[in-house]
Amino acid sequence: MANRLECVDVGTEYCPCYLAELNECIVCSQLQGKKFCDCNWKGVCVFQEFVWAGYKAKVTRSTVFTRILKKEEINEEVVILTLKVPNKLARDLNEPGAYVFVRGYFSPSFFDTPMSVMWADEIEGIIKIAIQVTGPKTKFIASAKEGEEVYLRGPYWNGMFGQRYIKGMHNSKALVVLRGIAQAPGVIVILKLIQNKNKVIVLLDKGKVQTNFIKDYIKNSDVTLVEADLLSEEGQEVLKQFIKDKKISVIYSGGSDEQHINILEYMDKYESEAYLAVSNNNKICCGEGICGSCEIEIDGQKMRTCKVQVDIRKMLERKMSRG
Ligand code: FES
Repeated sequence: MANRLECVDVGTEYCPCYLAELNECIVCSQLQGKKFCDCNWKGVCVFQEFVWAGYKAKVTRSTVFTRILKKEEINEEVVILTLKVPNKLARDLNEPGAYVFVRGYFSPSFFDTPMSVMWADEIEGIIKIAIQVTGPKTKFIASAKEGEEVYLRGPYWNGMFGQRYIKGMHNSKALVVLRGIAQAPGVIVILKLIQNKNKVIVLLDKGKVQTNFIKDYIKNSDVTLVEADLLSEEGQEVLKQFIKDKKISVIYSGGSDEQHINILEYMDKYESEAYLAVSNNNKICCGEGICGSCEIEIDGQKMRTCKVQVDIRKMLERKMSRG
């Protein structure tokens, strides 16, 4: 029997979604075409919500115009954009794993590019995103000028797996390992951990972007920032020492799947009992569970990772076995 899956959108104002209309709901067995209830969701019944909504998806994410208030060219690799957004959207995006789709004013919808949110201020109604130019879509967005408008669609939340470990950790010690452009989504993770009164060690590798562009956002007496090259022997030694620390209760890895695996292997080797949360590195295209570009298969079960909070260990072990 297939395992029950956890949808990041369940219980939010975006549930039930298009998938319910198509009998493809991730959580509700009745909205998968079965005749009985077999879910483990403890909130308001998804099927009932669907019926109340007139057998339709509830609210869908809309695309809004946003103005670029500020553009900071950090170096040749990284550009940070400050965007004016509705206050509610900024609040919704102030969560670990939050991301939006952005495209230029004159671009057709297939230019939509998923971008992690680095910073959100619900009072001011602004968000910040960091862009590393890697192809035509990011080049286009990075070329936009201050004062110009861009299209933005959101909020989306499944930019990381293991959200509950970050949100639920209080008064503990956390290790956050970030490399390259993955520093950006690390900021909200760190701020959430601080908000929950955790002490946070940030191990940061500038990686290909060659800059630590988040230091001003994470300045706090509860944060210890250590910079290292994680691909060097010295960097690996530093990483090992932190993972050996039995007081670390949660580890977040923002970087490649290889980095996640590297950390998981050390956790196993040194019998760390910390919870592991990781950035979602799958290819996101629609963000709605429709297109299938983010789909992976674990134990014969297909899951769309733009929606599903997957079992991190199984996901990484599958990757390790494929080499
Ligand atoms: S990105 Fe389209 S299904 Fe996940």
